[in-house]
Amino acid sequence: MEYSISLFLSLLLASSFIYFLLRSRRRLRLPPGNLGLPFVGETLQLISAYKTENPEPFIDERVARFGTLFTTHIFGEPTVFSADPDTNRFILQNEGKLFESSYPGSISNLLGRHSLLLMRGNLHKRMHSLTMSFANSSIIRDHFLVDIDRLVRLNLESWTGMVFLMEEAKKITFELSVKQLMSFDPCEWTESLRKEYVLVIEGFFTIPFAIFSTTYRRAIQARTKVAEALSLVVRQRRTESEKGERKNDMLGALLEGDGGGGGFSDEEIVDFLLALLVAGYETTSTIMTLAVKFLTETPLALAQLKEEHDAIRARKGESEPLEWNDYKSMPFTQCVVNETLRIANIISGVFRRAMTDVNIKGYTIPKGWKVFASLRAVHLDHEHFKDARTFSPWRWQEQNNSGAAGSGNFFTPFGGGPRRCPGYELARVELSVFLHHLITRFSWVPAGEDKLVFFPTTRTQKRYPINVERRHVCKPCKQ
Ligand code: HEM
Ligand SMILES: *[C@@H]1O[C@H](CO)[C@@H](O)[C@H](O)[C@H]1NC(C)=O
Ligand SMILES: *[C@@H]1O[C@H](CO)[C@@H](O)[C@H](O)[C@H]1NC(C)=O
Ligand SMILES: *[C@@H]1O[C@H](CO)[C@@H](O)[C@H](O)[C@H]1NC(C)=O
Repeated sequence: MEYSISLFLSLLLASSFIYFLLRSRRRLRLPPGNLGLPFVGETLQLISAYKTENPEPFIDERVARFGTLFTTHIFGEPTVFSADPDTNRFILQNEGKLFESSYPGSISNLLGRHSLLLMRGNLHKRMHSLTMSFANSSIIRDHFLVDIDRLVRLNLESWTGMVFLMEEAKKITFELSVKQLMSFDPCEWTESLRKEYVLVIEGFFTIPFAIFSTTYRRAIQARTKVAEALSLVVRQRRTESEKGERKNDMLGALLEGDGGGGGFSDEEIVDFLLALLVAGYETTSTIMTLAVKFLTETPLALAQLKEEHDAIRARKGESEPLEWNDYKSMPFTQCVVNETLRIANIISGVFRRAMTDVNIKGYTIPKGWKVFASLRAVHLDHEHFKDARTFSPWRWQEQNNSGAAGSGNFFTPFGGGPRRCPGYELARVELSVFLHHLITRFSWVPAGEDKLVFFPTTRTQKRYPINVERRHVCKPCKQ
């Protein structure tokens, strides 16, 4: 007992010493804060805070003590946290100039060296704009929407009794990505690819102690298998494209080396495809699941949404596919989408590294330090959104000044600047189409309690099981 107390005290002393050393050596005015214990810093506090249902205990507590810019020490490094919209914007806009994106080595091993998330400089610019043009709204309208509609319907057709919504949403999202990237319809091959791929994804959530875990080793093995499967496809398609056959998908664009600057190697293309699969998978499926959860808990919003979608169905007949015009006539759905993105914050914030000493708001962020721009902290701040922690899609309605419409600077679920998510429109369309078919086909009740947690990612603990029942739309009775 005494031993542990003295150990604790000496750790405490050592950490304060490091803190003062860091401060005095460079005579910088760091944002205020607490570096916690050496090595682990405040990592354990961070993890335990996000395992609760309250989304922001870690940040709330520190913002109350230190203000919206504070210093902490997590995952082995001193880190400056920003919960301030201006600072966040400054960080995002100065990507590549004052800050650069920064991921732990365990993540880069899984993503591959050539993934967009890890690219910098000119190559990043070129690949980012290639991805943007692959997923822009005219491409979605003219090419993707048909498949999104068809594959969502196909998946829902098999639902009966109890389903784990998160599992089903992941299956849908994966099938959509594979279709959009390489034009494959769901089949045995895509299903076996998905099984390996799920193992890769699990590896991402083993940080911060990745290297010691079997999950991580299994993920690395699975990555090799997925990469092999994908390179086979790339080789095949390269042969086809040399014969002049071109498919209208991401792989087609990559093989042509669109965007100027020559073609890409097979390895580059594989890494790129894999990173796109990762970027859209967990995010879009979680947002699908959470939208349903929030709606279930807000019956008024669900009723209003149902009205909007039943009206679209009544206009179109039972099995006609959704068209772009239909998507564009879902005003309340768009409020629900925004409100889900705001409250759920799948990507709670972005990590960057200061490329030089950066002065901001009277403080200095030293060169080489980690920075975390918390998007979530801004979304959940009562100063920017009234009753910020309540799900209220109505706040997005026009002429409603209780919070959101015109919240440009405060609402950034997709980040901003040169790294702004290129999938932002695609994610919105996929969620809207999914909600449309779910709501017009089924009614549901939760099959048991399920809690929202925020570590290692935002998700529900039990994959959100629901009991579904087919709605019988009784046309002749409607007169
Ligand atoms: C609800 C769904 C989604 C959310 C909340 C989301 C959020 C984000 C955020 C916040 C970033 C910025 C990361 C940073 O600045 O470091 C990002 C980047 C990215 N997202 Fe998404 N995303 C979603 C869906 C998608 C989809 C469907 C795709 C597939 C096309 C996608 C592809 C990407 C890519 C490739 C990047 C990296 C961009 C770059 O570094 O230049 N995302 N996403
Ligand atoms: C979308 O990208 C395509 C090329 O892939 C381009 O021709 C088109 O102009 C872009 N549309 C918009 C709205 O940016
Ligand atoms: C405005 O939003 C509030 C809640 O945020 C809601 O109670 C109210 O009904 C909305 N008003 C209009 C006109 O949509
Ligand atoms: C949803 O948020 C986006 C910003 O990401 C905004 O442009 C759009 O107008 C919002 N939609 C509604 C219905 O308020």
